[in-house]
Amino acid sequence: MKYLSKEDIINKKVILRCDFNVPVKDNVISDTSKIDKSLETIKYLLDNKNKVIILSHFGRIKTEEDKNKYSLKIVYEYLKKYIDLDFIDDPNNLEKINDSNKSCFLVENTRYTDIPEKRESKNDLELAKYWSTFGDVFVVDAFASLHRAHSSTAGISKYLPTYLGFLVEKEITNLNNLINNKEHPFLVIMGGAKVDDKLLIIENLIKKCDKLILTGGILNTFLKVMNYNVGKSLVSEDEEVLNKVKEIINNNADKLYYNTDFIVNRDGMVISVSIDDIEDNDIIYDNLVNLNEVIKDIKVVFLNGTSGKYEIDEYSRGTEKLLYDLKNSGCKVYVGGGDSVSSVINLGFENAFTYLSSGGGATLEYVAFGKLKALDYIEEQENNR
Ligand code: 3PG
Repeated sequence: MKYLSKEDIINKKVILRCDFNVPVKDNVISDTSKIDKSLETIKYLLDNKNKVIILSHFGRIKTEEDKNKYSLKIVYEYLKKYIDLDFIDDPNNLEKINDSNKSCFLVENTRYTDIPEKRESKNDLELAKYWSTFGDVFVVDAFASLHRAHSSTAGISKYLPTYLGFLVEKEITNLNNLINNKEHPFLVIMGGAKVDDKLLIIENLIKKCDKLILTGGILNTFLKVMNYNVGKSLVSEDEEVLNKVKEIINNNADKLYYNTDFIVNRDGMVISVSIDDIEDNDIIYDNLVNLNEVIKDIKVVFLNGTSGKYEIDEYSRGTEKLLYDLKNSGCKVYVGGGDSVSSVINLGFENAFTYLSSGGGATLEYVAFGKLKALDYIEEQENNR
């Protein structure tokens, strides 16, 4: 793989893929860290007199209404404070770049091209080729998107020499430190809402770690399989998922840790009883004493997912307590997953941990499997050149 840090890219037209898929609440970006972390590569390319054309997806586009909801205009307004750039409002019409005398452009959401034919998401090479005609080189800095081999994350590399940007390099270096770490005991904490798409990851991570704490919404399905009454809490109904959960529980009883100290509240939702005045529909990871017990011999922790709806004040205490305990544990703590990182930042733990990854699914896949689909695709194109 070629890294931007090892090359001199000067006076070129650069197609730069960033990940600006940011959380938005009440029309405000509630966590700008993905954009902030991309600025290093953008500024470096501009300082080197390159013309920079930035592509990114935002949300998932299935209907015309989604287009309004997920316009990158909001990111453009934020970026404008740091960079002099123009907005290109149609990813199918980059010719508009030629009407501007600016050196930097943010193109509207690449997934607009998913209507009607999912062109971006199915890695349509005609689309990738079209975008590539506006550049001399392709720089990929969208670490959080690299578990998807789409036209803008992978396809363009078929047509242009491709480099990995500073953010991707930093992520790979730090996450390699975690996955190649020989330090044990290694604890994984898995939370978040839905269990279905995390089972393969859990199965793989459990082989690598010494202990795994289940928390947040995904724990509900495990509790249900173990015949606990979880009321109306969100659980998977998929037979295959439930069988897989059963298998994971049966094969790993010695490694799994979770809170069973809960009740079903009047709304039919699981709530922890370890914090008695809580009125939410979240399950909290465990009480302080038990986490401290689980963690006492641990050297390294990988945290993915929250222990409740941290973004709502009165529901944030489970996540807050977990972060507080981790901060005081003396362990090396790596955090991955959009929600986890947002919770760390919003609850005031930004500088408390070893590494905060910008990826969600990408970080999980990289930590569990050591590879990412777009990176594999890019490597193949580079080897063929
Ligand atoms: C993320 O936020 O995890 C990435 O931007 C990927 O988004 P996606 O799951 O919609 O592809």
